[in-house]
Amino acid sequence: MYKKTYLTRYLVEKQRINGHIPPELRLLLEVVARACKRISQAVNKGPLGEVMGSADSENVQGEIQKKLDIIANEVLIEANEWGGHLAAMASEEMEGIHVVPNRYPQGEYLLLFDPLDGSSNIDVNVSIGTIFSVLVKPEGANVSEQDFLQAGVKQAAAGYCVYGPQTTLVLTVGDGVAVFTLDREQGSFVLTQEDLKIPEDTKEFAVNMSNQRHWDAPVTRYINECIAGSDGARGKDFNMRWVGSMVADVHRILTRGGIFLYPWDKREPEKPGKLRLTYEANPMSWLVEQAGGVATDGKHRIMDIQPAQLHERVSVFMGSKNEVDRVSSYYAEATSQA
Ligand code: AHG
Ligand code: MN
Ligand code: MN
Repeated sequence: MYKKTYLTRYLVEKQRINGHIPPELRLLLEVVARACKRISQAVNKGPLGEVMGSADSENVQGEIQKKLDIIANEVLIEANEWGGHLAAMASEEMEGIHVVPNRYPQGEYLLLFDPLDGSSNIDVNVSIGTIFSVLVKPEGANVSEQDFLQAGVKQAAAGYCVYGPQTTLVLTVGDGVAVFTLDREQGSFVLTQEDLKIPEDTKEFAVNMSNQRHWDAPVTRYINECIAGSDGARGKDFNMRWVGSMVADVHRILTRGGIFLYPWDKREPEKPGKLRLTYEANPMSWLVEQAGGVATDGKHRIMDIQPAQLHERVSVFMGSKNEVDRVSSYYAEATSQA
């Protein structure tokens, strides 16, 4: 019989055996997982739960919010504000930070999240997810937005939950990547893979090809070589996959290898990219690195970037080591020739 390790036991043992998860962080991760279960239920209900469609509102990024963006944001806030483990939260769906109200005790952690990633896929029954990152609140009296502006290397935990054919929680606290599958009958996450590793080489790339004409030279060169396949410089054929939910695209890459690209493009040159650094790129980068992959903006390791703003954007190249290194080498060559 399949011997089940539940998330609770996994975290308790991490706390007890490794000693590097403090009890408050264990509680925090359990609460986030519980919130993800509630979001998963809402996602599964679809039209039966009145969760489809737009909410007729815009977030701080100027994007139309879907009902599920707002529901997922509320679920995460409600679940996390009373436990005493957090000082404040930040979300894609909120302009400023949400400080834990005075009536609850304040903890030492900060939680950042993209409550619902892949919003354009909600209404078409395609995989979507939740991405989260945990930081330690710097010393000092009152928590402020400034406290959230920490480089990704400072993360205490990171993960995502993908709502697909299965609901899967993927987690790191800095000693590898663990995968949990939701057992819907039991209502519990069960450990289904430990120490996940991304193959170093791949023949699969994920990019929004409709943006091709706006890319810069290194990205154009890289993708053109992939498309040329066995007739070109690479001497092998590539395949393309693009879900349009970062969480699902990166989950596939963590599982069987690949490279995910969301590069800067010429349409809005002052914007470094589309994806957000603190609650999308950083947690995904840490998971990818913990799985032996690489995550850069073409020139720098993403997790070394010092954020200047909560909703800052960044160019993203992540996944199989040898492919991401190749893109970075094309940027280095382009810079040295300039
Ligand atoms: P979100 O739904 O949280 O705004 O994120 C969507 C992101 C990401 O998940 C995906 O890779 C990308 O946007 C797709 O955007 P385009 O369809 O514009 O390429
Ligand atoms: Mn997103
Ligand atoms: Mn989102």
